[in-house]
Amino acid sequence: MATALAVWDHVQTLSAGCATVKVTTQGRETSAEADCGLFMSTHSQEVASGERFEFGRNWQQFLRALTPQRIAQAEDSLRTMLGVLDLEGSSFLDAGCGSGLASLAARQLGARVHSFDYDPQSVACTQELKRRYAPDDPLWTIEAGSVLDVGYLESLGKFDLVYSWGVLHHTGAMWPAMENIIVPLTAGGRLFLAIYNHQRYWTWWHTCVKRSYVSAPRPLKWLIVGAYTSFEVTKGLVKDLVLLRNPLARYRQETRPRGMSWWHDTLDWIGGYPFETATASQVFDFYQPRGFVLERLDVSSGHGCSQFVFRKALEHWVWTNQPYSLAIVPQPSAPRPSID
Ligand SMILES: C[S@@+](CC[C@H](N)C(=O)[O-])C[C@H]1O[C@@H](n2cnc3c(N)ncnc32)[C@H](O)[C@@H]1O
Repeated sequence: MATALAVWDHVQTLSAGCATVKVTTQGRETSAEADCGLFMSTHSQEVASGERFEFGRNWQQFLRALTPQRIAQAEDSLRTMLGVLDLEGSSFLDAGCGSGLASLAARQLGARVHSFDYDPQSVACTQELKRRYAPDDPLWTIEAGSVLDVGYLESLGKFDLVYSWGVLHHTGAMWPAMENIIVPLTAGGRLFLAIYNHQRYWTWWHTCVKRSYVSAPRPLKWLIVGAYTSFEVTKGLVKDLVLLRNPLARYRQETRPRGMSWWHDTLDWIGGYPFETATASQVFDFYQPRGFVLERLDVSSGHGCSQFVFRKALEHWVWTNQPYSLAIVPQPSAPRPSID
């Protein structure tokens, strides 16, 4: 927390500029202009001082393996979690867009999309996806930004859907980020979050692994990756053999959620630092008194992410202050609106 605040203070003092980030696509190197000088130097300082994983670098590799099947899976996962057929007529904020795949999926489902990320290479990846699939599309904007910057979030206006999948626990200040992410959400809009599940003992161990990975020199990083993946592959193999399942099935693309890839997810998991966690009830207890109704929940029982879709109450609803009450009480003078 102290580190994150110190870094953030530093961000505020830097001036904005332009950066060109190289993205390699099927052996071809292209350049994406990322207007992200403000973040670039602090981001690279954090990486150099072993405080941050290079998420964007991993996404850059992931884009090489992007297929129409993965894009369709990303669209399906949005449809399923949000319970919609499409997003026509809605606005979608992708906070911490990473590869940009969810932004692309939302745009293809018909939403107007704004994507931002703190990592300049993630910004460049998203720009590269736009260049490939939606060049000159005025309804998809991309820039560098941070969920820890309330001023930036206020400047974006309001969105019907705020999507921040697997991001807030990587900011270094998860609870302030959970507060900030509400800022650009319109009343009655939906917040789609994924947050790493807290485990009583394992969370400590995973934090140690990730901390070691980001602070290790590159050869040692590969050693950590080798040891961890060997352990995971062996564990998976034993489990599948005992349960009489096909041991290869877990690596097949059809079984990967959200169009992700096993290898890039594994790297992201090993290195993904800063790292914080929360139980599903902690997340619920955080948003419920702030006027949010939980519409959909997919709880992880292991170390993965729990997914939440919350609806922000309309302004003329009032909330009881009682924990665990059903919470919504319409004001006598206001008709109770439909939440569909
Ligand atoms: C695990 S990736 C998830 C990317 C994407 N949301 C997805 O679902 O695939 C986490 C992303 O959060 C970004 N991130 C970390 N801190 C951030 C911050 N303060 N503001 C915005 N993005 C941030 C990282 O740069 C990275 O691209």
